[in-house]
Amino acid sequence: GLTEADKSRVKAIWVNVSAHPEELGGEALVRMFAVHPSTKTYFPHFDLHPGSENIRAHGKKVVNALTEAVNHLDDVAGALSRLSDLHAQKLRVDPVNFRLLSQCILVTIAAHCQGALTPEVHVSLDKFLTKVGKCLVSRYR
Ligand code: HEM
Repeated sequence: GLTEADKSRVKAIWVNVSAHPEELGGEALVRMFAVHPSTKTYFPHFDLHPGSENIRAHGKKVVNALTEAVNHLDDVAGALSRLSDLHAQKLRVDPVNFRLLSQCILVTIAAHCQGALTPEVHVSLDKFLTKVGKCLVSRYR
């Protein structure tokens, strides 16, 4: 689980991320679609060109949902409960994809927050994103 030190590090770096939800969320999605093209199959109704309105709007939703989780680090499952139902029961996103998006979120933060993503912060963020992924797939079957 996340230690108190993990929680402080996640909260601290997330201040930078939550200030630019469309830009950073959009970039994470663009990276996911480029590096892992199979993820595009879940978004047949989207314009997936970098910078499109769909990408920016969806990137913003994803980052804002993560901000909600960061604001409830002692109850991430509760904060993401509605989204867990949506991804498991309606969207049926294959669980492997959560790790792919998490990696793209980490790379995006590395590219923008540079010095702030120390190895310690990297580990804490990875633990947080893994926890989010576990919550979002927890309602399968
Ligand atoms: C929708 C968050 C991972 C596919 C959404 C929404 C949010 C969200 C907030 C909008 C829900 C609404 O409209 O009420 C997240 C978070 C993720 C994550 C926080 C992990 C960090 C993924 C992954 C995929 C995916 C890995 C597939 C590769 C979708 C799809 C929609 C959606 C297809 C519906 C899009 C639409 O039609 O508007 N997600 N998601 N999500 N998500 Fe995720």
